[in-house]
Amino acid sequence: MRVIDAIHTLYERVPAPANSLPPALASAYDGGLVVPNRQSGDRPYVLVNFIETLDGVISYTQPGEPFQGTVGGKSDTDHMVMGILRARADAVIFGAGSLREDKGHIHTPAFVSPPHADAYAAYRGSLGYGSTLPISVVMSASGQIDLSERTFHTPDLRVVIVTTSTGEGRLRGEALPPGVDVRLVASAGDGTVDVRAMLRLLVDDYGVRVALNEGGPLVLASFLAADAVDEVFLTLAPQLAGRTVETPRRSLVEGVAFAPKLAPNAQLLSVKQAGNHLFLRYAIGIGA
Ligand SMILES: NC(=O)c1ccc[n+]([C@@H]2O[C@H](COP(=O)([O-])OP(=O)(O)OC[C@H]3O[C@@H](n4cnc5c(N)ncnc54)[C@H](OP(=O)(O)O)[C@@H]3O)[C@@H](O)[C@H]2O)c1
Repeated sequence: MRVIDAIHTLYERVPAPANSLPPALASAYDGGLVVPNRQSGDRPYVLVNFIETLDGVISYTQPGEPFQGTVGGKSDTDHMVMGILRARADAVIFGAGSLREDKGHIHTPAFVSPPHADAYAAYRGSLGYGSTLPISVVMSASGQIDLSERTFHTPDLRVVIVTTSTGEGRLRGEALPPGVDVRLVASAGDGTVDVRAMLRLLVDDYGVRVALNEGGPLVLASFLAADAVDEVFLTLAPQLAGRTVETPRRSLVEGVAFAPKLAPNAQLLSVKQAGNHLFLRYAIGIGA
């Protein structure tokens, strides 16, 4: 097994009881994790998880290029945390862009941190999920989805493609693998999926109470614009990527530019450190 940098909790606004995670994960995470279920209302509780460089770059890959790897290099500790967040969620939401660029990636807890597979399963069992995996939710306006991707052929992984009438038209007639749904969602008016309508669908038809948004930056922008983010888990990788006009590397949020007075505010919930990586947790929309 590879050595994972130990996490140290530096700050926690409200300490979580250690028994909120199974012992193996509480030890790996240096403490517990409490994420509320949203039991009512028209959307689930929404977590976001990203890793970025110190200068805010989330990907070295330019659109259309082969995947260049995770920013800051692969951090086993970051992957372990990502697995905990996936294990906590009913659904993991991501954009078709991530599916196209990060080929072969499966959005399950154990895929990102195989040594913790048993601990993730124990955690989901304790949360009442039994042996089910979090649903993968792919957002696409165009419907340009490669249905031969591994995501659509992983046993026991339920997948929902949420799309517009354009995307549904493109996907109609394609042979869908078992366990894959294509769901038409109202358009936001700009040809993309209305995030609020999609979240209501996930609550009503799939029983989703906690959703993990794994981006990319266009998906995160549409969630922020819809005021549909509760928390952001942000890993700061100890690296400076830079960007030029010719290499316009993407940052955390792309496709929306908030006026200063309307930019969502964040309240710091916790800070953890592993080696030179920082693990930040924020509540969004509080503490203006
Ligand atoms: N550092 C990190 O933590 C992190 C996290 C996630 C992703 N990434 C990286 O980010 C890159 C992908 O970025 P990206 O710019 O392509 O962003 P993306 O957000 O992954 O995907 C964008 C695509 O998602 C679909 N989409 C987004 N919002 C939508 C909406 N409201 N309604 C309907 N469809 C929507 C569209 O698909 P269609 O074109 O099909 O309409 C859009 O082109 C990859 O390299 C990935 O590895 C990094």
